[in-house]
Amino acid sequence: MGLRRGTEVELEVEDIAFGGKGIARLDGLVIFVEGALPGEQVRARIRRRKSDYAEATVREILSPSPRRVVPRCEYFGICGGCKWQNVPYEEQLDFKWREVRDSFNRIGGFREVTIERPLPSPEIFFYRNKMEFAFSRQRWLIPEERGTDEKPKDFALGLHVPGRFDKVLDLDRCYLQSELSNRILQATRDFARTRDLEPWDTRTHSGFWRYLVVREGKNTGEVMVNLVTSRREEGVMRELAEVLCNLSPKVVSVVNNIQPRPSSTAFGEEEWVVWGRGFIVERLGPFSFEISANSFFQTNTRQAERLYRKIVELAELEGRELVYDLYCGTGTIGIFLSPHARRVLGVELLDNAVANARRNCERNKVTNCTFLKGDVAELLTLESRRGELREPPDVLVVDPPRAGVHPKGLRHILALQPRRIIYVSCNPTTLARDLKVLCERRYQIKRILPVDMFPHTYHIETIVRLDRKAS
Ligand SMILES: C[S@@+](CC[C@H](N)C(=O)[O-])C[C@H]1O[C@@H](n2cnc3c(N)ncnc32)[C@H](O)[C@@H]1O
Repeated sequence: MGLRRGTEVELEVEDIAFGGKGIARLDGLVIFVEGALPGEQVRARIRRRKSDYAEATVREILSPSPRRVVPRCEYFGICGGCKWQNVPYEEQLDFKWREVRDSFNRIGGFREVTIERPLPSPEIFFYRNKMEFAFSRQRWLIPEERGTDEKPKDFALGLHVPGRFDKVLDLDRCYLQSELSNRILQATRDFARTRDLEPWDTRTHSGFWRYLVVREGKNTGEVMVNLVTSRREEGVMRELAEVLCNLSPKVVSVVNNIQPRPSSTAFGEEEWVVWGRGFIVERLGPFSFEISANSFFQTNTRQAERLYRKIVELAELEGRELVYDLYCGTGTIGIFLSPHARRVLGVELLDNAVANARRNCERNKVTNCTFLKGDVAELLTLESRRGELREPPDVLVVDPPRAGVHPKGLRHILALQPRRIIYVSCNPTTLARDLKVLCERRYQIKRILPVDMFPHTYHIETIVRLDRKAS
């Protein structure tokens, strides 16, 4: 078939694939179409051609899905944040359910399993407790701005345009975090523009301003502002901290993470607490948690509480069990499980997160949790399982990053032989891959419950309960 890069074709979109792309077929070849929804007829341009599939981008929607809705955000279609704001929420959940089903079928080889309907998020706008905005010297111009000189073109603070790591959309308003977060964004931009300091340049690796990260306790109202810069400029930071604190008494912490090296993440090598106490507190159900600038915390607070309650329900603890909480972050899952278990043992790679987890136990007067710093792949080898790790768990919870569990980690889990495993995953493809390994050995799937933590995106969290087979 003469289907090369750049060719335009008419396609009928049949389904949705992981990553939110539409699936179409042309002469038997699968084509993943960016920007199209199931049921639509589109004209699309081939972007990439492989031997067994192709990727295309929509040029024109010839027959739109009758289910499309008007997106709330004026930057929809330009900003990479909310790809599905034009899809009714019920339908978004259906797409996510299909993504999970597809991963289980295709990657895991599971055909007979029941995947429950995703647990919807209680809020679909302003649900995030963390937003990360990037500074750039290259502002992405929206169509109305082209040819005007209203705003400088060499300064932007906002969100990346998809596929353009260098260009940033200088947005005024985002519907994901809160109105206060929007005011912080605007005040930081206004302040930074008046200083004689440039945004970071990703090509020359020079400049000062790198990221603005806003974290917000949705249940406590506390806000932390984290400025990531390439060096320390004490006077400037103190002035900016004053501007930010004057915006609202909810701003309880301003920190400066310093990152002089090329890096595409908003992490610093060094942290300076410019103002306040260097962390915020968030409440989830009966517990409260300390969150510092770089620690992992589920971004949708209200849904995180429901996620943790579901984990407690699926774990079915009776109070006698030893529970391992692998990839435990700041200890949230372990602390939620602690009233129902004899003991909880958490394992986490990052020092900061382990320190937060220990403080979170003290703060909540939880005395039956222990947190160990280490790599899951290394810490659970037979030789290193001394002391705390000598006793194997009755129940094991595993909540890895997107890459899933390291093969060594999976081998350790199999060797530990817990009676029950609760696998919490933010990536259905690595989840299906890992479950295939566990189920080929000694485990069987009991429940699969997707939980929607990220409305308007294709991301989906999934909780799976596995039971050890009788041998
Ligand atoms: C998806 S988060 C889960 C955090 C926590 N369970 C929660 O709900 O807040 C994954 C965590 O795994 C940690 N991590 C990543 N690689 C790791 C490894 N090899 N060994 C141990 N922890 C790791 C990360 O630092 C992060 O805190």
